[in-house]
Amino acid sequence: MTQMRRVSVRLPTRENYEIEIGAGALGHVGRIARGSLSPAARRTAVVSNARVFNLYGARVVRGLRAAGFNVSHWLMGDGERHKNLRTAERALAFFSASKLERTDAVVALGGGVVGDLAGFAAAVYLRGIAFLQAPTTLLAQIDASVGGKTAVNTADGKNLIGAFHQPRAVVISTETLLTLPPRELTAGWCEAIKQGAVGSRRLFEQTRRFLVAERAGETARAPERAQRRADELAALIAAQCSFKAKIVAGDEREDAGRTDAHSRRILNFGHTAAHALEAVTRYRRFRHGEAVGYGMLVAAEISQRLGMLDASELESLRACVRLAGRLPRADDLDERALLRAIASDKKSVGGHVRWVLLEGIGRPRIVGGQEIQPRVVRAALRAAMAQSSTDKSEVN
Ligand SMILES: NC(=O)c1ccc[n+]([C@@H]2O[C@H](COP(=O)([O-])OP(=O)(O)OC[C@H]3O[C@@H](n4cnc5c(N)ncnc54)[C@H](O)[C@@H]3O)[C@@H](O)[C@H]2O)c1
Repeated sequence: MTQMRRVSVRLPTRENYEIEIGAGALGHVGRIARGSLSPAARRTAVVSNARVFNLYGARVVRGLRAAGFNVSHWLMGDGERHKNLRTAERALAFFSASKLERTDAVVALGGGVVGDLAGFAAAVYLRGIAFLQAPTTLLAQIDASVGGKTAVNTADGKNLIGAFHQPRAVVISTETLLTLPPRELTAGWCEAIKQGAVGSRRLFEQTRRFLVAERAGETARAPERAQRRADELAALIAAQCSFKAKIVAGDEREDAGRTDAHSRRILNFGHTAAHALEAVTRYRRFRHGEAVGYGMLVAAEISQRLGMLDASELESLRACVRLAGRLPRADDLDERALLRAIASDKKSVGGHVRWVLLEGIGRPRIVGGQEIQPRVVRAALRAAMAQSSTDKSEVN
């Protein structure tokens, strides 16, 4: 039996909650819901998609029923393109039809798409009802489910309509990762490396060591070894969640004026170039996390060229990104189109791109784009993109 771990999220607004992590945590969802929701809560509506619900829905519904809830469920389409207002409206109609009241709750079972949409619908239904996150992708477990950002996309871009709405609890069942497609896992590992790179050397090292063991094929055969790996995975996810929780606690609403090393903005490490890669390939080639894999390298190459980052630190980031898994190729992309896309990054402030750079592993620094010469960005981009040809890291 894997040990359950708990991470507490403590917010200035006192919307505090616990993250419970371990293999088999979904089996505790009823107890966790009872412990975190209003005593008056009678109904829960599970929002998921068919793929995830077929794998884990029965367990969640059973657990919630055993805890005395009346449970209904509603399945949205699978994929980012369903994360929109039309789907949210259908979810809201379902909550109404299920007669959810102010004291009742929504349970989001799935990846970041389900979590963002269900969280958004919960944030606006009856001006906000409680919701629980049960994330089933690595990205959602270490990042999207923690922090209270909920959103849907519009024709103009991603996450343009949303609300801050903290979950009442997060239930992370690590064994759900066993059914995750490899590319989703790679994308999640890139985000984990990102959090390590801006978080602390310790978190970076813990992530790196786990990946080294993973790639060495230290897997299931000996039962005690499988057990140890499961414990290490839970410990790593807990460390990643603690980091995210700490950042969120210090800057819950992403204060636009902050540029310090503890602001929520540092989580955008790797995102400036990642957004450009995604835009130039019309969101068809890369999973977001895969693009972040390259984006981190671009930011680190810039950092090194500005004399902020040691060559050895750059190399350890490169090596770690390689451990995350194979990335789609990027060395064939049009450099000028990428540079144009970087210049128009939506996270720019007052017309200037803000780069999250590194002074070392665990030491982020935010630097205005106007302080970096275009030739430095160009050379960094070229060096990072070339990784895909030197690594033979192509996937299709
Ligand atoms: N709210 C936040 O703070 C935040 C942070 C980061 C990302 N996000 C959002 O998260 C979304 C991306 O989330 P994602 O990467 O989890 O993608 P996703 O939700 O699309 O899941 C990826 C795929 O894996 C499938 N899947 C999920 N769990 C599975 C499992 N255990 N076994 C098998 N298949 C499974 C899904 O059905 C889907 O096809 C984006 O919309 C992004 O904007 C939000």
